Amino acid sequence: MGASMKRGFRGKVMTASSGGEDLRYLEDGLLVFGDDGRITSVEPFGGPPDGVLVRDVRPFLLAAGFVDAHLHYPQTRVIGSATGPLLPWLERTVFPEEARFLDERHATAVAAELTRRLALAGTTTAVLYSSSDPRATRVLFEALARSGHRGFVGLTLMDQHCPEPLRVDADHALAACAELASAYHGHDRGRLAFVITPRFAPTCSRALLEGAGRLAEERGLFVQTHISENADECRAALALHPFASDYLDIYDRTGLLGERTLLAHAIHLSPGEWDRVRARGARIAHCPDSNFFLGSGRMRLAEARARGIPVALGTDVAAGRTFDVRRIMSSAYDNATCLGDPITPEALFRLGTLGGAEALGIARETGSLEPGKDADFCVIELPDYVEGRSDVLSRIVFSSDTTPVRETYVRGKRVEGG
Ligand code: GUN
Ligand code: ZN
Repeated sequence: MGASMKRGFRGKVMTASSGGEDLRYLEDGLLVFGDDGRITSVEPFGGPPDGVLVRDVRPFLLAAGFVDAHLHYPQTRVIGSATGPLLPWLERTVFPEEARFLDERHATAVAAELTRRLALAGTTTAVLYSSSDPRATRVLFEALARSGHRGFVGLTLMDQHCPEPLRVDADHALAACAELASAYHGHDRGRLAFVITPRFAPTCSRALLEGAGRLAEERGLFVQTHISENADECRAALALHPFASDYLDIYDRTGLLGERTLLAHAIHLSPGEWDRVRARGARIAHCPDSNFFLGSGRMRLAEARARGIPVALGTDVAAGRTFDVRRIMSSAYDNATCLGDPITPEALFRLGTLGGAEALGIARETGSLEPGKDADFCVIELPDYVEGRSDVLSRIVFSSDTTPVRETYVRGKRVEGG
């Protein structure tokens, strides 16, 4: 095999495409990429091409890797704890577990579990909250560098209304963010990114929110936070930040709301807040499984889609009960159907892949199988009798346990654990 040998995978192919809403489906396709990890072609199979080492995975499917736009690394081990709603669940289940991440050995063990779970789900890009501890955050970056995932990672900022071991004052926390951004942001041709991550308004002072907004602006970093997930949370946020006219205004006035802002949940937003999300160019991480599990409510996805607001899907582990973005597609379907605004399986597949990449500003690099993009994909097992665009799509979106992911690749390299 020559040094510049291309590699090919032959199988069914499913991907969103940049040109429009329709998915591209090939019953017998060939995905080819170079040793730089970039896709060179995705075409119907037409015989073995010269200079390409082809692996035949038929009857399995080659799908674009999934984008999980919202989950919490230090909650990996408390998945499935039914101690909700949100605020009591944070006190009872989440904060005690996140405090354990002061122990580097615990942080290291859990980071390995997390990257394995992501790979098993076919997730190639993940947007993660770390704990409030900078060392644990480094541990997570190093684990992602080893596994090969594309990762957006934030140090979770909290300087009030949380247990003492998790509280970090604004000066220390922002200095740690600056160091972490210098150490990891943009590394490996942009595969790793540092994200400014105020946990949510109730656990952040105004000074911390403003400092976070300034740092994001100075460094050109993404911001992620939670908004309007739960009615008690909304009341607490406004009581603690009386300068703001509504929840969104807290983030707006502190410089945190813009085109690189990813807002999770957004269940209880008013029409005026939705309009301002749109006007500022912010993006939404939709986490329906978490919203059901904590009884937070149903996000009106149609409000976002009607305004052209970019939407990504998030598992929100551990309020979400799965690392599998396809199960989130399925719960997004339930959520939309219950609200009387049904959504198609095509649109759901798009949200979990290219839509996520668009919301994160990385759609030129990933999110679909198209020439010039990185070969970020997974191999999904399909029974040999499941054929044709619509039956394959149904299984992928609605029945992930009968069609498990077998292998996961980022830039053409097998992701460790997947
Ligand atoms: N709001 C603030 N922190 C959290 C969290 O860890 N999970 C969820 N679902 N909502 C939050
Ligand atoms: Zn969350």
